[in-house]
Amino acid sequence: MRKNLIAGNWKMNTTLPEGLALAKGLNEALNGKTVKCDVVIGVPFIHLASVAAAIDTSRIAVAAQNCADKEKGAYTGEVSAAMVASTGAKYVILGHSERRAYYHETAEVLKEKVILALANRLTPIFCIGETLDDRDAGKQFDVVDEQVKASLFGLSAEDFSHLVIAYEPVWAIGTGKTATAEQAQEIHAHIRSTIASKYGQAIAENCSILYGGSMNAGNAKELVAKPDVDGGLIGGASLSVENFLPIIEAF
Ligand code: 13P
Repeated sequence: MRKNLIAGNWKMNTTLPEGLALAKGLNEALNGKTVKCDVVIGVPFIHLASVAAAIDTSRIAVAAQNCADKEKGAYTGEVSAAMVASTGAKYVILGHSERRAYYHETAEVLKEKVILALANRLTPIFCIGETLDDRDAGKQFDVVDEQVKASLFGLSAEDFSHLVIAYEPVWAIGTGKTATAEQAQEIHAHIRSTIASKYGQAIAENCSILYGGSMNAGNAKELVAKPDVDGGLIGGASLSVENFLPIIEAF
């Protein structure tokens, strides 16, 4: 069966000492606790190795927030999937709407990133989601279908079975506006049926689909109670142990 997963996305927050303190704090808070989900923290590149060394990575897995679309070589400033994997990170967030919007990442580029992440045994957390205009026009189902098809449907069934999807409606990110649990359930079920149409029911049922967008201690329980919501990708509320821990405990 698919796994429940709560992943933090720290985005471009925390200096290295601050990030280490946050990771260690979470590690301590989870020590001796039984939780009913896998826990991931998505940290800035320069934190990866130090954070992975400072925590119990069998309890909290580490994720990068991006990786390059090229294997290696003369690409100044880029960080490859192999480099990410060599730090001890196990996941990589790809296709976040902020990367699509501000850094012009296209479906084609994301397809390459996913392939390289999988080749390096990283689990991609692949983000999709519509804008407010899309939703107002009733296009949310078409938009997420297109995002999934364009970047992921070239993968083999075996490769597809190793990734996680995060549905993050752009209008809910950092806005304090959350999709209702019903809205999340409706589109998660739709995404799962799109996956099933290509890869079959078994792979679709095994794919974890996370919700992201202003998820917090107050709304997490209701969201993860929905049958097709397998966890969350959390931005702002992952930046303190106090806010993140109750979300982990929502399962
Ligand atoms: P917020 O939880 O801050 O809305 O961010 C969501 C997000 O973008 C996680 O990737």
